[in-house]
Amino acid sequence: MTHATVLQTEGLCKYWGGVKALDNMSLSFHDKSVHGIVGPNGAGKSTLLNLLCGSYKPTAGRILHQGEAIEDIRAYQFVRRGIGRGFQKTNIYPQVTCLENCCIAAQRRVGGSFNILLSKNSSALLKEMAEQALQQVGLGSRRDTIASQISYGEQRQLEIAMVLATAPSVLLLDEPMAGMGHEESRLIIELLKKLKQDYCIVLVEHDMDAVFELSDQLTVMVNGQHLVTGCVDEVRNNSKVKEAYLGQGDEVI
Ligand SMILES: Nc1ncnc2c1ncn2[C@@H]1O[C@H](COP(=O)(O)OP(=O)(O)O)[C@@H](O)[C@H]1O
Ligand SMILES: [Mg+2]
Repeated sequence: MTHATVLQTEGLCKYWGGVKALDNMSLSFHDKSVHGIVGPNGAGKSTLLNLLCGSYKPTAGRILHQGEAIEDIRAYQFVRRGIGRGFQKTNIYPQVTCLENCCIAAQRRVGGSFNILLSKNSSALLKEMAEQALQQVGLGSRRDTIASQISYGEQRQLEIAMVLATAPSVLLLDEPMAGMGHEESRLIIELLKKLKQDYCIVLVEHDMDAVFELSDQLTVMVNGQHLVTGCVDEVRNNSKVKEAYLGQGDEVI
């Protein structure tokens, strides 16, 4: 069963001078599913996520959220619309607690400028959003631990919690398993399996086994271009994909 389309791109392009980091990308992302994005280094995967969260403005093309064009709105408005972005590199504040990290993230959704009279309620709301996010990723017991004191794997979980603390409906995740051992990766895979029941997840990931296990839809990109989109089996058996990956050595599908 295909769930409702949440986010779409139409002819999306991002050029840096003569470099076509992303060229004419038209994709649909659905609710309650994982859409995997794979491709060799430099394929334009992070560029796509940066466009989808409003960090970059497209050179051309459109981004539709719930059918509404959003490519011209400001980055903070993407967060307020429920489009949450995790980063390829660990993006936490190491000197404060896990709960405080999530409070800072939640504030991006609620807005930074509080009326003094409302501030008590606002901080209670932020704390509630933050606590809930920590529980969702299984870091409830690390609530009051300084972020630099938790393991690398837990820091990546915290990063996902920070996205969840913004109360998103879309999760844009850039290599959440990068640098992890097998057991830590398993934790994230199980977490994403649980989260995909409730969110539209766009997952850029190099770990092919993880991508195959999690993805409902899978897109392969090469040199900023769309190569193929389909379910995992369709993509694995696609002759263009086999051709594109042949000779790449390290990344054979
Ligand atoms: N800020 C930037 N300025 C200039 N070129 C960029 C910038 N960001 C990305 N690129 C280029 O765009 C292409 C796609 O990069 P990227 O989206 O990071 O690929 P991926 O995440 O698939 O490895 C690369 O050729 C990269 O060098
Ligand atoms: Mg990247």
